[in-house]
Amino acid sequence: MKALILAGGFGTRLRPLSCTRPKHLFPIANRPLLELTLEKLANNGIKKAILAVNFMARELERALGKSKYGIKLHFSSDLPDEPQAKRTFKGALGTGGPIKLAERLLGTSDPFFVLNGDILTNTNYSRIMKTHRKTDGIATIALRRVKDPSRYGVVELVDKKLIRRFVEKPSDNAPSNLINAGIYILEPDIFEYILPGKTCSLEREIFPKLALEKALFGVEIKDLWIDVGEPTDFIEANRLWLKAEKETSTHSQKTRLDERVKIKDAVAIDENVVVGNESIIGPNVALGKDVSIGNAVRIKDSIIFPHTSISDLTTIESAIIGESVTVGRQVKIKNGCLIGDNSIIRDGVTIAPDVRICPAKDISEDILRSRCVV
Ligand code: GDD
Ligand code: MG
Repeated sequence: MKALILAGGFGTRLRPLSCTRPKHLFPIANRPLLELTLEKLANNGIKKAILAVNFMARELERALGKSKYGIKLHFSSDLPDEPQAKRTFKGALGTGGPIKLAERLLGTSDPFFVLNGDILTNTNYSRIMKTHRKTDGIATIALRRVKDPSRYGVVELVDKKLIRRFVEKPSDNAPSNLINAGIYILEPDIFEYILPGKTCSLEREIFPKLALEKALFGVEIKDLWIDVGEPTDFIEANRLWLKAEKETSTHSQKTRLDERVKIKDAVAIDENVVVGNESIIGPNVALGKDVSIGNAVRIKDSIIFPHTSISDLTTIESAIIGESVTVGRQVKIKNGCLIGDNSIIRDGVTIAPDVRICPAKDISEDILRSRCVV
């Protein structure tokens, strides 16, 4: 079986961290999100995956290589491989256009999976396929019940499986709280619905049409599922994954923790991490490779990217600290903060909730209200 993974979005809501890496490679418990997805796909019998890329295509190719967990990887870019000056098409193909573009790679004989690449889930993909096989539809989509459906595609379901209506991001009057989970089985007939070389939204143009034709079906999933679209989602995704996949904390063998370090489960600690005396780490913390933490540091509900160093007596709560950041002594970083790669936060600085700091900034004074430092 084949799968196409949509991985070309810009990750605007995760800036500035997504300025320097695609959101699909953000680490969940120190592993890139797409690696976790590919591992699950491999366990569900997928042998070939097409990565539909655009923004930061090279970074994705370099990070994932030619195969993962026995799945052969192909990269299909929205942007034609021709010199800049000769390009006839400069944009992004949306969520539908990349499927048409990959028609030859996907083949026209069997149904295939299409996945939003920014979803973390441990769902049973084979179960969705089983449901699809019992229908005569062109598409079956995984559905998920949420409290607030307004930021998702929302469906109206009849007879448990048939979708009567599909509305993308309804501003009001959402037809239900069952949302599109971004996991689809599509029949090759879908290629007839998408024009080649054009931007197309599956959710705004194709699914509503299929619903009218009674060719759109849904299956509710109740497993771990989260769209890693916003900073709070990313922290929550780490928390959920740590809880679901690891009973207790995991430390790389090559890591050195002082005897008087307190680890509160669950925590993921990568290679060559150093944590000093009296520091309290966790719960829900991921420390990336080569991270160095001083004495009496307190970190909870946070993600620290590789090669970052944090000095003594600093506290960090519900924040994301980018790669190769230097955080001084007695710094306070409050909830919702995003610190861009290569930044320096000087000794004694307090950073208020929800502050975003662009890469390579040198911060020597307190930032006391929520804003973006560019
Ligand atoms: N190649 C390519 N080209 N990929 C794209 C493009 C594009 O132009 N635009 C978006 N993508 C990829 C993104 O990288 C992401 O993995 C996926 O398509 C979905 O795009 P998002 O921008 O993350 O959409 P969303 O989160 O607002 O909404 C989507 O996901 C929800 C579930 O989380 C929709 O599918 C909703 O209906 C759904 O409920
Ligand atoms: Mg998304």
